[in-house]
Amino acid sequence: MYIYKTAVIGAGAMGAEIAQVISFSGLPVVLKDVDQAAVDKGLGTIRKIYQRRVDRGKMTTDELEKKMMLVTGATSNDSLKDADLVVEAVPEKLALKQQIFKELDQLLPESSMIASNTSSLSISALGGVTKRPHKVVGMHFFYPAHIMKLVEVIPGLETSEETIADILSFAESLRKLPVRVNECPGFLVNRILMPYLNEAAYCMQEGAATPKQIDEAMVEFGFPMGPFTLVDNLGFDVCKEVVNVLLDAYGSRMQPAPIWEGMAKLKRLGVKNGAGFYLYGDRAGQPDTELQGLLQSYKSSQPTPTKFTPHRLVLPMINETIRCLDEHVCTAADADLSIIAGLGFPQARGGILHYADEVGLDKVLAELEGFTKMFGERFWPSPLLKRKVAAGHRGQAAKKGFFDYTS
Ligand SMILES: NC(=O)c1ccc[n+]([C@@H]2O[C@H](COP(=O)([O-])OP(=O)(O)OC[C@H]3O[C@@H](n4cnc5c(N)ncnc54)[C@H](O)[C@@H]3O)[C@@H](O)[C@H]2O)c1
Repeated sequence: MYIYKTAVIGAGAMGAEIAQVISFSGLPVVLKDVDQAAVDKGLGTIRKIYQRRVDRGKMTTDELEKKMMLVTGATSNDSLKDADLVVEAVPEKLALKQQIFKELDQLLPESSMIASNTSSLSISALGGVTKRPHKVVGMHFFYPAHIMKLVEVIPGLETSEETIADILSFAESLRKLPVRVNECPGFLVNRILMPYLNEAAYCMQEGAATPKQIDEAMVEFGFPMGPFTLVDNLGFDVCKEVVNVLLDAYGSRMQPAPIWEGMAKLKRLGVKNGAGFYLYGDRAGQPDTELQGLLQSYKSSQPTPTKFTPHRLVLPMINETIRCLDEHVCTAADADLSIIAGLGFPQARGGILHYADEVGLDKVLAELEGFTKMFGERFWPSPLLKRKVAAGHRGQAAKKGFFDYTS
């Protein structure tokens, strides 16, 4: 299906970014929110993104105005009733999103598609409230969408292959990297990110290393930023919401480190309120007695510090990625691509599964078994990893692992 006219519902952090991305590709887009102030804020965000391009000499003011003409602000549904595709980006509340999907279903032509930018809610549960579940799909952009290339395209139980193909090619026309991810809680990237962030929190809580030492080690490993800097930038509240979804879906291996609860009680949300795992603004660089106090409160349950190594954070990601493969959430190549583009896994290491192959799957398995003995069942090796090793698919050295190595 040819997608010409589009609309985005919700002009907040993500909605405005998505509308900018669509207008940048040359398509008209309606940006709808509950009131004019919210719409104006969203239009302001889009203008700022374009203005930065002008300031860097990548676009003229004239071009900026032409792009802005493609974006129409709206507070009612009138101007979006002929849209071929509507992308919903309202707050992460199932009842609210379902209400919007019902309204859109009544409003839009039968042929129109409805996508959700949800980070964690079920696409099937959104499609289920419409008479067109075959036209409902997840289109998960990452923040900031005008920079981040990855888009997870998530079919619900009844989404048609035609809709998936249309959305994959639409995302490509936006100059994005779309990856098909079959529906599972957390989809692919957040599902793999959280065990990594959680293990960093365990390391900190157990006195294995400080956030700064861990961040520096992970940057040394090749990540663009360390896990604590990442949580502070994403927002602790946003991460906690995703952690809760994963815990509910996958049980004990996603159990958040107790220090998450301590951080939540202290309302240290990260950059946005000036304090997270680090201090920001006027307090940047000052001694952090509050955080020290919190760490001290865990001392009695962990008198001897545990040991930190980058693999303690990377192996849970590898293990969860292998579980995703086992569940046919995505292909091995798409997993590598997504984790580089969505999580910043070092590209020089060829992607997370290429890295596992390079280390050797037998060694990955042995290390996970060692971690399981030391730290608990959250490291329990995935069944597919064991099958691979048992079959002699040990990775690069055996010329066969998650990929084949013929030369
Ligand atoms: N912020 C992120 O990093 C991020 C990344 C990926 C996906 N997401 C997902 O994107 C969605 C939006 O997140 P956000 O961070 O942009 O939220 P946000 O709070 O910044 O923006 C939500 C916007 O929706 C508007 N809204 C609320 N009810 C509405 C209604 N009935 N009709 C029209 N507009 C309405 C609000 O006024 C607000 O402007 C969520 O599902 C979230 O999980 C967020």
